[in-house]
Amino acid sequence: MNNLTNKRILLGVSGSIAAYKSPDIVRRLQDLGAEVRVIITTGGREFVSELSLQTISKNKVHDNLWDKEAELAMGHIELAKWADAVIIAPASANTIARLCHGKADDLLSTVILATNASVLIAPSMNQQMFASKAIKENLKILNNRGVVTINPGFGEQACGDVGEGRLAEPEEIAKQVANMFSDSALSGRKVLITIGGTIEAIDPVRYISNHSSGKMGMALAHACIQAGAETTLIIGSISVEIEKRAEVIYITSANEMFNAVMKKIENQDLFISCAAVADFRPTKISHNKIKKDGKLAVIELTKNKDILESVCKLKNKPVCIGFAAETENFLANARAKLKNKKCDAIILNDISNSDIGLNSDENEVHFISQEKTEKIDKSSKQIIAEKIIKKVTKYFF
Ligand code: PMT
Repeated sequence: MNNLTNKRILLGVSGSIAAYKSPDIVRRLQDLGAEVRVIITTGGREFVSELSLQTISKNKVHDNLWDKEAELAMGHIELAKWADAVIIAPASANTIARLCHGKADDLLSTVILATNASVLIAPSMNQQMFASKAIKENLKILNNRGVVTINPGFGEQACGDVGEGRLAEPEEIAKQVANMFSDSALSGRKVLITIGGTIEAIDPVRYISNHSSGKMGMALAHACIQAGAETTLIIGSISVEIEKRAEVIYITSANEMFNAVMKKIENQDLFISCAAVADFRPTKISHNKIKKDGKLAVIELTKNKDILESVCKLKNKPVCIGFAAETENFLANARAKLKNKKCDAIILNDISNSDIGLNSDENEVHFISQEKTEKIDKSSKQIIAEKIIKKVTKYFF
């Protein structure tokens, strides 16, 4: 089993009968070497005593967002920063819904909003509740934000029902928390990812760009960080929350992205070119706003440098993964890009379908290397990213 030596785990205990198992979860996390602090919600207190959790965790249990003394000692922001991982076990239906909505009206929900750490939730509730559409959709939303679910078990429940909804066993919960920190192939590796669209100015007001939201690239950033990589992001125009645990470099144009990548590429182990880089830029950027009654009819364009191709040509190149955004002749076009740009693998996505690819929450891709082509079925971009990173580590590290 992997261990949690030197890891600081914040355990959130919410209102479910399974909260009585939370002292055992603290124990199992400690067995793996973790230091554990506990936050208990109002509901959680109905099912387990604060004293038990305090005695076992050997730390004061945190329960009140408005406690002035606690704020002086370790307030919600300190707790959020302290944690290497936050695990909510048990996570009640109510807590899951509140996380989904980004509520900040108690200590646990506020800490979740304020933390950079990985968040895991172990749902526990009646089987019918767990099967409900609302819970399934809430979990999907949280998973898309990078929250990891520790699936509940199947069996007899406290209410007498039989089904899926029992809190996972404390040992299993501790194991899954430890797995988050396990020595994966990217542990200690450096990863550079380009994300989003580039903006090519026409004049001080207008520009040429594209619809890239940054969702796919940011999901890859989550996946690399979860796999232990030291991750740097070169970010263009995006409309997605930034992964706070990565080093971030902001750029605007394709030229700026090229320069930023080249400055950072030395010593990288993996380069993922997910950005939608403009192939062309206006040859001249007008200093003044172009008047609509002027003579301009045509914008002359100049080809931008191909960043991925340039990285692939470097003497000590990292493993290079490109993307192919295609609207037709999908496999043939993607394989041609793999060959021409000489990258190690290319991820093909269909951007003509508005349900997947560009600016959508889901994607469906083909992972294409010299040796094989594998389809990754339609799923959230987070799940797609995790599957891509698993393949990259399996084939190239
Ligand atoms: O950001 P989202 O809304 O989540 O959408 C994700 C995405 C559709 C943008 C992403 O999955 C994707 O496909 N990114 C690549 C977009 C693209 O520019 O594809 P391309 O087929 O034109 O380029 C091929 C590869 O060369 C890409 O890895 C691209 O980053 C790279 N390239 C292209 C041009 C250029 N001048 N320099 C490059 O490095």
